[in-house]
Amino acid sequence: MTIVTGVSVRVPAKLNLQLAVGPPRADGYHHLVTVFHAVSLFDEVTAEPAERDGVTVTGEGADRVPVGQDNLALRAVAALRGPPGTGPGVSRAGPGPAGVHITIAKRIPVAAGLAGGSADAAAALVACNELWDGGLSQPQLLEVAARVGSDVAFALLGGTAVGRGRGERLTPALAPATRYHWVLAFADGHLSTPEVYAALDRLRTAGPGTRAGRGERVPRDQPGPAEPGLDTGLMSALRSGDAGLVGRALSNDLQPAALSLFPALRKTLAAGLELGALGALVAGSGPTCVFLAASAERALDLAVSMSGAGVCRSVARVTGPVPGAVIVPPVK
Ligand code: C5P
Repeated sequence: MTIVTGVSVRVPAKLNLQLAVGPPRADGYHHLVTVFHAVSLFDEVTAEPAERDGVTVTGEGADRVPVGQDNLALRAVAALRGPPGTGPGVSRAGPGPAGVHITIAKRIPVAAGLAGGSADAAAALVACNELWDGGLSQPQLLEVAARVGSDVAFALLGGTAVGRGRGERLTPALAPATRYHWVLAFADGHLSTPEVYAALDRLRTAGPGTRAGRGERVPRDQPGPAEPGLDTGLMSALRSGDAGLVGRALSNDLQPAALSLFPALRKTLAAGLELGALGALVAGSGPTCVFLAASAERALDLAVSMSGAGVCRSVARVTGPVPGAVIVPPVK
């Protein structure tokens, strides 16, 4: 008999098919309307009982992930236990150690615009809820997730969903079961999300005539509208399941800011479009670039050509949408 001591959860990276950013709010965050899309690039997070809370990170970019209380997965564990009076809260009850050790096997690159840290936090919530027999429902976990970070709730949900507020208020998108084929071009470098938002604010307040770079339009000259709008063109493209229409409708208000901080990405985006991508954009706050291909074969061709073009560190082929954080059944 195998005694199972830990719980493992697989959790996907996300893309933003639309990312519309409004002006900064009083709390420093920005009003968003975004269309999230979960893709088949996964981290695996394991929670095991331990005397004291701790975290170990292995794999892609592990040395860049903090392992102290700043770690987003440990912050998620703290939020799950919850200070009294803040809603649902669970922790280890009965005999056995009260702490948890979290092991994160990373494949989602760190600080790449793919919400890898948020994914790990979402996976830690699911794993600890199971480990401690917490019994929280998905709506209750979503509530805890929303307190941990802007993208954590979506990593629980997966699929394709519209995010509002900071990105944490989610509505699943009703769309046919189309599988989209994406190529991700990973950059040789990183971007900090707060710095990219700050650069966007600077570009917007710099006023008319300021350009983020050749061929790049600053989306709004002055602070954006209080509530940025959902792109109905993108939503109808998603409902049609037509990859060509989806490719043309991709948009990201953070892209000019990311390009201003990381100008080499312009070449990467242009190369992908020249090589036949149906659409191209920077992933979230970057610096990963995302390309939509017409089919699995086209995605393979594009991935091979992109790696040969010398415009990125490496490439990956992924599909979407995929489900959010799921428990990996223990090997018998
Ligand atoms: O919520 P999360 O920790 O993922 O956000 C990282 C940073 O991104 C925030 O500290 C903030 O600077 C920026 N951000 C923002 N507006 C949002 C989401 C994130 O300004 N809606």
